Amino acid sequence: MSEIIVKKSPALCGNVVCSGSKNAALPILAATILTEGKNVINNLPRLTDTENMFEILTALGGVCNTNVNTAEIDFTNCREYSASYELMTKFRGSFFLAAPILSRMKRARISMPGGCPIGNRPIDLHLKGFAAMGAEIEKGHGYVDLYCPQLKGAKIYLDFPSVGATENLILAAVLADGETIIENAAAEPEIADLANFLIKQGAKIHGVGSGTIKIYGVKRLEPVTYSIISDRIEAGTFMSAFAITGGKGRIDNINPVHLKPVTAKLTEMGAEIDEHRNYICIDATKPLNSANIKTLPFPGFPTDMQAQFSALLCETKGSGIIVETVFENRFLHIGELNRMGANIRIDGRSSFIEGNKHLSGAKVNAMDLRGGAALVLAGLCADGETRISGVHHIKRGYENLCGKLRSIGGNIFLE
Ligand code: EPZ
Repeated sequence: MSEIIVKKSPALCGNVVCSGSKNAALPILAATILTEGKNVINNLPRLTDTENMFEILTALGGVCNTNVNTAEIDFTNCREYSASYELMTKFRGSFFLAAPILSRMKRARISMPGGCPIGNRPIDLHLKGFAAMGAEIEKGHGYVDLYCPQLKGAKIYLDFPSVGATENLILAAVLADGETIIENAAAEPEIADLANFLIKQGAKIHGVGSGTIKIYGVKRLEPVTYSIISDRIEAGTFMSAFAITGGKGRIDNINPVHLKPVTAKLTEMGAEIDEHRNYICIDATKPLNSANIKTLPFPGFPTDMQAQFSALLCETKGSGIIVETVFENRFLHIGELNRMGANIRIDGRSSFIEGNKHLSGAKVNAMDLRGGAALVLAGLCADGETRISGVHHIKRGYENLCGKLRSIGGNIFLE
């Protein structure tokens, strides 16, 4: 099994380029099922999750041609309403297929989703919305079966501003009969990117980012060429890498507006950050203070940056507290950080992190995507060598992480 080997690295320095957003790419790739014709998607990250999505789209009848970070996806023909269980259970993003397949094929058979083991990852809000739009739903043998000859607009209140449920219901509503209103909708930038892709195809969507989204169903969507937003979590991970090594540098190909909560927190901790139209400069050469963090739906501090900051707070002056309010089991990386000499105590959804720890390299195991990124960050500043197993988790969400970190001075490679 491959491992990532990280050794204590100098203060990182230089420019690093962000890839396209995983969490924008997955719903947008799923959305291509809705158009009879060829969509061209640019700034696409090449990740395990996106490769799996291409395999599923092909199995459904799509013709996918990829060239580095561009994909041409032609859904003139959609033959199937389901794909292999093994493929669909590999990642959470496969559940975004439910709505477009149901809308196109009038039925869909989707496996209960996979993804990071950060909580039980229910889909009740997705199903509540589909039922409100007229779908019949059956669950069994690890699958969800959906049937509906024509989805109808409905008013849906989400008990939690679920990113996936918001995206699935937008995908269900764009070709439905009538108006759909999604209340208490999520406002993450990836949702706006999906909506912008659909609007470019002819969809009528209003209010994205406001908490209440209105969609007026149209008869047909036209295929387009579209460039996906960059990955704010990858950008935040690189900002954390500069911060944890006391370095300075520039993150290119990113919209700073998408990173506001992370930038605000790092500034509060003492980093100097300059935001520009499509890049961010960070100077973390002065020792950083600790901080208290509570993860929240956007525009709050992103849960996908919680693990990375757990590692960072081990190295800052003083102790910090991180409260994880979005997922119920997102501290899997804490035990591994403590193996490296961290002193982090968990009490329910709160973690208490002692600073000034000077971590030491160890053999550790990545148990989810962002937890794996946290272990990489810890390895960059730990004395000695850190060997990280569970690399497949990291490959799901980071394009060439080792190569990009090496380009700014990181002592890291994939064995
Ligand atoms: C998306 O997951 C992202 N994944 C996650 O990123 C991200 O952490 C999460 O949104 C929150 O921002 C993709 O976009 C592929 P949710 P999703 O539905 O849609 C509860 C990463 O590291 N909930 O907003 O699964 C749920 O239990 C990944 O890139 C219900 O109760 O997140 C959780 O507590 C990890 N019922 C909370 O909502 C539902 O039907 C947030 O889940 C759906 C969700």
